[in-house]
Amino acid sequence: MAPQTRRVLKQEKGHGAKTAKKQSPVSSSTVLPTDRSAANSWRTAIIQTLLLSIGLSLGLFYAWYSGAGDAQKVLVNQRPPPRYDEVAVGAAYAVVDIPGKGKGAIATRNISRGELILTEKPLFTVPPTIQTSPVEFIKEKLALTSEPQRWAFFNLSYVNFPKDKDPLRDVDHLAFAIFETNAVRAGKEVGVFPRMARLNHGCSSGFNTVYSYRETEGTLYIHAIKPIAVGEELLTTYTDTKKPRHQRRSFLQQTYGFGCTCSVCSLPEAESKASDSRLSAMAANWARFAKWIDGTINGVEAIELVREIWKLGDEEGYGSERGRLAADAVWVAAGHSDGSRKKDSFKAL
Ligand SMILES: *[C@@H]1O[C@H](CO)[C@@H](O)[C@H](O)[C@H]1NC(C)=O
Ligand SMILES: *[C@@H]1O[C@H](CO)[C@@H](O)[C@H](O)[C@H]1NC(C)=O
Repeated sequence: MAPQTRRVLKQEKGHGAKTAKKQSPVSSSTVLPTDRSAANSWRTAIIQTLLLSIGLSLGLFYAWYSGAGDAQKVLVNQRPPPRYDEVAVGAAYAVVDIPGKGKGAIATRNISRGELILTEKPLFTVPPTIQTSPVEFIKEKLALTSEPQRWAFFNLSYVNFPKDKDPLRDVDHLAFAIFETNAVRAGKEVGVFPRMARLNHGCSSGFNTVYSYRETEGTLYIHAIKPIAVGEELLTTYTDTKKPRHQRRSFLQQTYGFGCTCSVCSLPEAESKASDSRLSAMAANWARFAKWIDGTINGVEAIELVREIWKLGDEEGYGSERGRLAADAVWVAAGHSDGSRKKDSFKAL
């Protein structure tokens, strides 16, 4: 994509130079003296020569100036803005067109599990509740960003644009739709991360990267949770995918405007059913596990649930929530101050 755009830029420059050359004779002839009666006087000759050279220089200057102006215009309006959504050379992936998916991120080398793939600061963040109109709010936030950042922002996709509005006219509503489609939780707020937004979605075992926002640093971190081979697509997950396939797919369609074709959503019917029942069981176990906090279940049952979630995760290939699970298990073990239980729970992990 980038080399092509650069070629267009060169053509535009060439075109600008051509126009400049055409303009030069026109400009100098308009400055030439036209008084024929004094044509023989040496003074007139000198003046004529003088005027001619002034005219020529003016013409040449104008030609140069307008040529430069054209180039300037080309540079300002048509120069491809820095590829904000692409990462530096040497990065682990490249953003490319993926048939049927728009853009996506493809590994340019083998990536090991646990590797840091990307860190990104948000273009801006928005608190969960605001007093003013949301459309106005996003407009103001966007006004504080740089030009390449705005380009990157308006490059993002959107769904659910108001039917009575035109995206080309109602830029503020367009910005709001883009925000709604792409905003990601960033601590207590939500933020827009155009680079991260290039990662497509996968469900359950179908994604290989996770993102987490470090509030103290104001930075989003993306790590590989599985080994990723060169040429493979980097996928993350936009939502809790412990729901049956039809529910996941209709949610993704409604919220993000795509029909999910990830490896889990494209499983044959029987395997998909098996996956769905594992995911539902995981979700039910998580919900029951959360009851430990109000005393509905005791520590022993809580740790049993952790084990069960862990086992289902192994079968499903879905381990992205294990960090939290392990930490919660430690809380439970510590909460019961039961040495042998604690040892058991660590063993389970
Ligand atoms: C990348 O990983 C594949 C297996 O996943 C292996 O065959 C290949 O040799 C690796 N390439 C490099 C450059 O390490
Ligand atoms: C926006 O997308 C176009 C087409 O994919 C790309 O050429 C351009 O570099 C992108 N702009 C930014 C700022 O990322």
